[in-house]
Amino acid sequence: MMRRILRIILILPLLGIVAVTATSCTMLGLNYASLEVDNKPVARPVLDISSADSWLNEQAPRLRSDLEQHVFGPVPVGLPSKVISKKIVDDRFLDGLGTLEEYVIQIGNGADGVQFHLAAVFPNRTSRPAPLIVSQTFSQNPSVLRQYDLHPGPLMENPPENGEGPGGFGIGLIHFIFGSYIQKAPLDEYLQRGYAFANFYAGEIVPDRGEAGRAALEQFPAMADGRRPTGTVAAWAAGYFAAIDVLDADPRIDTSHTAVFGHSRHGKSALVAGGWDDRIELVISHQSGTGGASLNREKPGESVKQITKNYPHWFDPAYALYAEDLDALPVDQHMLLALNAPRRVLIGNGRRDVWSDPNGAFRAALGANPAWEAFDKAGLAQSGLRNFDPSADVAFHMRPGGHGIIRADIDAFLAFLDASFTSIEGAKTAVR
Ligand code: GCU
Repeated sequence: MMRRILRIILILPLLGIVAVTATSCTMLGLNYASLEVDNKPVARPVLDISSADSWLNEQAPRLRSDLEQHVFGPVPVGLPSKVISKKIVDDRFLDGLGTLEEYVIQIGNGADGVQFHLAAVFPNRTSRPAPLIVSQTFSQNPSVLRQYDLHPGPLMENPPENGEGPGGFGIGLIHFIFGSYIQKAPLDEYLQRGYAFANFYAGEIVPDRGEAGRAALEQFPAMADGRRPTGTVAAWAAGYFAAIDVLDADPRIDTSHTAVFGHSRHGKSALVAGGWDDRIELVISHQSGTGGASLNREKPGESVKQITKNYPHWFDPAYALYAEDLDALPVDQHMLLALNAPRRVLIGNGRRDVWSDPNGAFRAALGANPAWEAFDKAGLAQSGLRNFDPSADVAFHMRPGGHGIIRADIDAFLAFLDASFTSIEGAKTAVR
């Protein structure tokens, strides 16, 4: 008996070290995501959709309300938005390829209105309205644009309390860890193709910090039914909605070709935006992980317990209640993906980004397929995690490496966008 107790006492710390190391290895990107497709648990509850009509009119609205109740909290759709100010920053941006403008946009009409800055580039050398990509990022617009030479135009406005973002060595380190495109969008490549691009900093809409985030949510503009968002992932989606309101009113924009982009926490928000707003035709959700494209149950990487403990402000408090009992959670993330049907979705992944669970995202996409099938579309049709098809309804991209945005990701994003956007009549010849 004594020996057994002694053995347990000796083994316990060892087990602790192994557990901590395993988590750290996953977080540090030292493990590889499983490529196994067969013999893996399927997404639950299984979606059973009888027709596109029943999906659109009954099931999808019910699912939206379920996901709001159990995971995201109310998604602030339909709030009024208005342009507070607008200026041309550079009409010869990138040697005349585009015009860079900056807007201050207000979400909501009342005293609780939230203002944010949107930087938008429009292609100059095109004879057709431009498809639009709206991006939500970790960085303020000046940081996103700092890497491009601006013609003398005035500096971008920025609320001083939001700071300047990391510069110098900080930027170099961030690029080293998270890839050279973590902040920089490939603006020249978008403009050359005749695409417009707009960026906003999510933290300006609701701060990405526990207490400050929750406080801002309590003040956020209420919807017509009186509800306000209770998680920042849903609240940040309001930035996409407002940007689309404003840019769709601009004759330079082709309103029928709108994409949203987000990485990681912003990839979660991009999926919410697509699921709640059908003005969006394409969603690029890169490494969105838990609370995004990856399943909540039976997964490696970040658990619901970890995410709701470390980032409680991202979600409705209800999500945390399931942390210890995932079987009781009546929804899973394939339902979020399904709400994006029949639009096109790109799910970006890194093989070593096990923290965001690529395999769980693949299984979620498989579980969402009935929603695409209801519209006679295939959804995710690739046979394995590495068989990327950029023209698919649901495209799953897996490249080597960890969490971040590298050239291989940009190539996948462009191929995916081109498959929809350059098929527009005349597009290929419109840009010189
Ligand atoms: C953390 C978090 C993820 C999130 C990521 C990010 O790693 O655990 O859920 O996606 O931050 O936003 O970069």
